[in-house]
Amino acid sequence: MHKPLTASRSARLSGRLHVPGDKSISHRALILSALATGRSRIEGLLEADDIMATAKALEALGAGVTRSNGAFEVSGQGVGGLRAPGQPLDFGNSGTGSRLMLGVVAGHDMKAEFTGDESLRRRPMGRVLEPLAAMGLRVESKKEGETTLPLTVCGTRDLIPIVYELPVPSAQVKSAVLLAGLHAPGRTSVIEKMASRDHTELMLAHFGAEILVEDRGDGARVVSICGDGELGRASLSVPGDPSSAAFAIAAAAIRPGSDVIIEGVLLNPTRTGFIETLREMGGRIELLDLRGEGGEQVGDLRVKAAPLKGVRVPPSRAPSMIDEYPILAVVAAFAEGETRMEGLSELKVKESDRLRAIAAGLAACGVAARIEGDDLIVEGRGEVKGGGLVETYMDHRIAMAFLILGLGASAPVTVDDTRMIGTSFPGFAELMTKLGANFK
Ligand code: S3P
Repeated sequence: MHKPLTASRSARLSGRLHVPGDKSISHRALILSALATGRSRIEGLLEADDIMATAKALEALGAGVTRSNGAFEVSGQGVGGLRAPGQPLDFGNSGTGSRLMLGVVAGHDMKAEFTGDESLRRRPMGRVLEPLAAMGLRVESKKEGETTLPLTVCGTRDLIPIVYELPVPSAQVKSAVLLAGLHAPGRTSVIEKMASRDHTELMLAHFGAEILVEDRGDGARVVSICGDGELGRASLSVPGDPSSAAFAIAAAAIRPGSDVIIEGVLLNPTRTGFIETLREMGGRIELLDLRGEGGEQVGDLRVKAAPLKGVRVPPSRAPSMIDEYPILAVVAAFAEGETRMEGLSELKVKESDRLRAIAAGLAACGVAARIEGDDLIVEGRGEVKGGGLVETYMDHRIAMAFLILGLGASAPVTVDDTRMIGTSFPGFAELMTKLGANFK
């Protein structure tokens, strides 16, 4: 049963907000804790469907995951110490969980079936299976060359370390190879031409792994891990997710008179492309208190509404804001002038084909937008008609982005389904309502 929701034009937004924990860091915190020796403690873990799917998969593989006193405790089994699961591993909607865990299973002598929901079963897994197969993972496909879930894979204790240059800028692929590399003797290296989010590298170092990050000289980064070592137990605190914060930032930026403070947001420079872009558009975002927490940068953000103008967003910006294009496109609709977002081919293989989902949603709300190759162009007119029914295609970020659009549009906007919001931002509607958002 679909759960639609309607957003209507709201008065100014104001107040303080703490967004749930970062999704990328939460997956990694659970996975590395399960591979460490001893009990690790994670505070601020994102309690959303995607993360709980990873927790359940790790439990099926023999790690203990318990919630105690508002934090999570994981009893790790040591590198290579997980056992074969008695049931298929179901990752729900989560590309990150499934791809990272393929890297983990690769280093174990076990057979495991990976599956997920309708959206995940459409997403490409070949991008991780290819380097993992070169390391020794065997894939039992139903048909030759089939690389979508459900898939059964066979890992091995005898993985071969590789040097792998990423054909697509993907932190998920980088992380899957590094996690497999943790189980391979010798040095496994991943080369990336454009820096993608680096939480895996940072957290592996925090757990005591031997990690080396070098500059190849031509701007490319080489991330290497020395495998067959141990990971020590760790204590972690997960900062607020900047990809969730982006919805509140956008709402405050487009509703005149708004003044909102978002506390404890992760500000790792590989994740701040949206803030940078919004500032270029004229957005007023102030950093109140930058601090370091568990190897990551964290800060409080104060956002005030301001007139916005269209900008060109270069392809080089994409890895640092890959999940923020749906909400940036919405902000662009309220700006004056053209916003040209370039080099978005990766958007086609997210939880939905986001390039098409964004363009269709904008069209349904009376916004002039078009796709040119891998670019998305939005013609901002300062105001948005709204009044449409937006299809979300099982995509949480499409749902949230268009609900924010409804807060500023002349006529109410309905999104056809909000159930997927729970995969990344539980409490989204309630938290936004507290700031003054009008959702019904
Ligand atoms: C993620 C990486 C990104 C991002 C996803 C989370 C991660 O995907 O879209 O939501 O945690 O590594 P890609 O690495 O495939 O670009």
